[in-house]
Amino acid sequence: MKLCVALDMANFEDNINLAKELKGLDIWLKVGLRSYLRDGVKIINEIKNIGDFKVFLDLKLYDIPNTMADAAEVIAKSGVDMINLHASAGLRAMKMVMDRLSNIKNRPLVLAVSALTSFNQNEFMEIYNDNIQNSVIKFSQAAYKAGLDGMVSSVFESKIIKENTSRDFITLTPGIRPFGESSNDQQRVANIQTAKEMKSDFIVVGRPIYEAKNPREVVEKILKEI
Ligand code: C5P
Repeated sequence: MKLCVALDMANFEDNINLAKELKGLDIWLKVGLRSYLRDGVKIINEIKNIGDFKVFLDLKLYDIPNTMADAAEVIAKSGVDMINLHASAGLRAMKMVMDRLSNIKNRPLVLAVSALTSFNQNEFMEIYNDNIQNSVIKFSQAAYKAGLDGMVSSVFESKIIKENTSRDFITLTPGIRPFGESSNDQQRVANIQTAKEMKSDFIVVGRPIYEAKNPREVVEKILKEI
C-alpha cells in the first residue's frame, strides 16, 4: 500500500513547502484542481525538482469523449504519473481516452472515479438513482473493460471492485483518517487498518497531514503503520 499526500493547501508556496518538508519519504503527491488551475504545469515541474516524488494529477475529467481524450493527452504529456476521470462519463469516453494515450511512451496510470467519498447513500441515490455499491461495481467493470488501470473509491468499495474486476485492478481510496481524526466533509471515512483489510493500493490523506503541527511526523507515523 502506498501513501498519497494531497497538496490541497491554499497557495503555491504552502504546497511547495509541504513537498520540501516531505522530501525523501516514499510517498506520492496529489495535485488537485485548484492548484492546477492556478499554477498549471509549473507546480508539477517544481515538485519533480524537489525530489523523487510520483505525482497524481487529480482533475477528474468529465466531458464528451473527444474533449476528454484531448485533455487527457495534454496532461499525460506533462510528466505526471497518474491521472483520473469520472467513470460516469461512460465506456465510450474511457475507451477513447485509453486509445489516445496508447501512443504515449510511459503513459501515466489512469483511474476512474466511481462515487465521490463526500456522498452519503441518499445524496448519491438522488443523482444516480442507484445505491453506491451497485454503481461502483458497474463503473469498475466499465473502466476495466475500457483498459483503465484502476478506480478511485471509498475504502469500503475497494474489495468489491477487485472481486468484480481483477486483483490487480488498482484501488485508490481518499477519505482516510489514519488515526481517527475529524472526517471533515468526507462521509465514508476509514482508518489505515480498514484500508489494509479492504486491499486498498493507495490511500489519499490530506487534512490530517497538512493541518497537523508537524506534517512529516504524521507521514512517518502513517508509513510505519502501512
Ligand atoms: O483532506 P482529505 O484527506 O479529505 O483530502 C482528500 C483528497 O482526496 C481531496 O483532495 C479530495 O479532492 C480527494 N478526493 C476525494 N474523494 C474522491 C476523489 C478525490 O476526497 N472520490
